[in-house]
Amino acid sequence: MQELNGLSEKLDAIKQEILTGMETLDSSKAVYEFKKSFLDSKTGKIGQLMKGMKDIPPQERANYGKSVNALKEWALAQFEELDVKMKEKELLARYESEKVDITMPAEKVESGNLHPITLIRNQLIDIFGAMGFEVFEGTEIETDYYNFTALNTPQDHPARDMQDTFYLTPEFLLRTQTSAGQIHVMEKSAPPIKILSPGKVFRSDDDATHSPMFSQMEGLVVDEGITLCDLKGMLDVLVQKIFGEGTTTRLRPSYFPFTEPSVEVDVSCFACGGEGCKLCKGTGWIEVLGAGIVNKKVLEVCGIDSEKYSGLAFGIGIERLAMLKYGINNIKLLFESDVRVLKQLND
Ligand code: PHE
Repeated sequence: MQELNGLSEKLDAIKQEILTGMETLDSSKAVYEFKKSFLDSKTGKIGQLMKGMKDIPPQERANYGKSVNALKEWALAQFEELDVKMKEKELLARYESEKVDITMPAEKVESGNLHPITLIRNQLIDIFGAMGFEVFEGTEIETDYYNFTALNTPQDHPARDMQDTFYLTPEFLLRTQTSAGQIHVMEKSAPPIKILSPGKVFRSDDDATHSPMFSQMEGLVVDEGITLCDLKGMLDVLVQKIFGEGTTTRLRPSYFPFTEPSVEVDVSCFACGGEGCKLCKGTGWIEVLGAGIVNKKVLEVCGIDSEKYSGLAFGIGIERLAMLKYGINNIKLLFESDVRVLKQLND
């Protein structure tokens, strides 16, 4: 009886507590917590009343149950209504905070591209790679021996004047040519040899078409029966791939101490097709690289039998190819890295 006597006051008090409490709630999460504090079957105030039902004398239990249940139903409805309102409010707030102004100008996305020197170097590696060449990267600091002496250019050789050298010490220097790598490769490996050696080289030289630092791509093939015909065949493929179908090469006699015979290789002018224009200075041909048959003395210095084997070598100036291909008339443009220039050179 005790229980039932005070029950209706108790239920009223809970009801009041819910009504005043609800006014202070400001989020659906708070509603959830508040609801739990009443309706949780174990810890909630109404839940505990439900649990207490078993202690009510059987004849009063039905009334007790009914009253508590009515409160529970009422509370559920209150919370449900408030929850819907809160969620609506929160959704609107989210919409507001995530609002996108579609009239705002888009942020500019800057896309970069590879430097023309890198593009040409990669292209050369692809072309010669397809012919079976492997890449050997030498070092930028070399000894006088590898850069000159072993390449048949001893101390007093007049050909040293062809390349003004930056000496670090009397023995060490900044390599003037990637040809230095030829010696390292031939010393270390036996024929057949087929390597490509890209890298920076340094010469005391500075004008519109020369820079104290530039890049070369060396090629070296050593095997039985290698001739200038092999060289011409490979270079014809090269110029066609770089400058387009129908381009061809011509070999002119030249001189390098480490090749005999030596040649300068010209490419038929891809701008005028050989008619003669400003680019080829009216000759129909443009000089692109130096090459030749490896001098027997160089093979022997590296311990390769020059009676059995012969070799071909070529050295390509990468900046020169880039300048020709992209119509750049000042080598400095390739080193200033002005994005306005580089952006135009990306195929
Ligand atoms: N090393 C030469 C140069 O820098 C180019 C070259 C390489 C010539 C290989 C012949 C053979 O001018």
